[in-house]
Amino acid sequence: MRIYHLSAECYPVAKVGGLADVVGALPKYQVKAGLDAAVALPYYNRKFTREHDFDVVFQSATLLGTRRLYFEVLKERNNTLGFELFLIKIPGLIDREEVYCYPDENEQFIAYQLAFLDWISYSQQSPDVIHCHDHHSGLVPFLLKYSKLYTRLANTPTVFTIHNGQYHGAFGWDKLAYLPEIDLSKTGLLDWSGGINPLASAVRCCSMYTTVSPSYLDELAVSSNGLESLFVMERERGVGIVNGIDTAVWNPQTDPMISAKYNVAKVAAGKKANKEALCARFNLSPDKPLISFIGRLVYEKGADVMADAIAESLESTSGQVNFVLLGAGDVDVEHKLQELKEKFPTDCNVFIGYNEELAHLVYAGADFLLMPSRVEPCGLNQLYSLRYGTLPMVRSTGGLKDTVIDFGDEGGYGIRYDQTSVADIVYAISRALVLYNNPKHLQQLRKRMMALDFSWDTATQQYIDIYKSIIPNN
Ligand code: ADP
Ligand code: GLC
Repeated sequence: MRIYHLSAECYPVAKVGGLADVVGALPKYQVKAGLDAAVALPYYNRKFTREHDFDVVFQSATLLGTRRLYFEVLKERNNTLGFELFLIKIPGLIDREEVYCYPDENEQFIAYQLAFLDWISYSQQSPDVIHCHDHHSGLVPFLLKYSKLYTRLANTPTVFTIHNGQYHGAFGWDKLAYLPEIDLSKTGLLDWSGGINPLASAVRCCSMYTTVSPSYLDELAVSSNGLESLFVMERERGVGIVNGIDTAVWNPQTDPMISAKYNVAKVAAGKKANKEALCARFNLSPDKPLISFIGRLVYEKGADVMADAIAESLESTSGQVNFVLLGAGDVDVEHKLQELKEKFPTDCNVFIGYNEELAHLVYAGADFLLMPSRVEPCGLNQLYSLRYGTLPMVRSTGGLKDTVIDFGDEGGYGIRYDQTSVADIVYAISRALVLYNNPKHLQQLRKRMMALDFSWDTATQQYIDIYKSIIPNN
């Protein structure tokens, strides 16, 4: 079964968040399960692309309106990632360093999709499924069906996975001319609220869509930045599948990025050694409970409210607890975290920026991980923290609700709270401190969480079942 994954991110080629982790892992596990899975990514001028060997496997030109764009498809020579990786390069448009936020982002992603389809079409390939991730490849299901250029591929089954339903990639009708030779009687399938909406179009035109947790599928019908009625209508065509984690990359027993390796049997000593290294690096006390945060500093993650809650906890406990916070994003939130660090220099330290290695050390060295997300389609951080024996403290939403059971409930191992509010987070912190002062109980919970299985095996099978259900005559 030949599958193409289309995505803006793929670890370790280009990562901004969890989308990269998923697209870097799922195809690998699909290959292990016997599928012929490949990834086709936009080209980025980044470390991975500079340091690996590529062969040009296709060259052509595509039209973006009246602009003729020369493009190349590069294939990574050694399949280092465990699957075939293709990069679509368009000089001057898709050959830059950053993944997002260029003023001509619409043009970039549309051109990426057109070049991919041109390549597949002209090279006479017939993939069994094209699997699109988020709005960056959301126009593919429509184009396959309704552009005369791709008639040969019109019946290709498509899966569309929503990792983040808050971003739609919408743009104005003035750019309709970018979509070549389409059936103009079908443009209603592109429309939402008077614009072209790739996310909405993908949901309507794909064979089946998925979300990265069952709870998030329900939540989209209640809150999806204006698409709620769409998700109510299309509810039956959606399936929620919880992401797995790449247990080869996220394994405290082999992780080269942490200070001391450990497994369930050695969790106490292993975490102690990593905590000491982390605290030494951040000038914190290894004798106090250490609560961490890792993530993009955007509204959905609730880091703004978390900062107020941390200040209140540190004041009310007179610094009985320490915090280490790692993230980058909105400048206002970055400032808020910096202020915390200045106000509580011995109890709270902050790293503003993106640092993969440090993230691993934080998962290994912290006692707890806070995730006060307002929205969390799946969340991988809590899954990594569970694997490293770090107790997740999560707001009950989306994938957090589906993967973390409160330690007060049967079989539980985490801390859950209802709201992204100062009161709920402060209360959750107070529960963490009580647990910390009961090392036997904490140790028991660590062992319980480390024994959980969040590997990709289950999800891989669920995706295979979906592919089988949409491939004709299967
Ligand atoms: P999202 O995709 O919404 O950002 P996820 O929980 O799915 O959230 O995934 C976040 C991923 O990005 C994890 O691998 C996490 O470790 C990583 N990450 C987020 N912020 C940083 C950072 N500042 N430095 C290093 N890794 C980060
Ligand atoms: C998105 C979501 C996150 C999810 C990730 C991978 O970025 O915000 O919750 O884990 O995609 O699916």
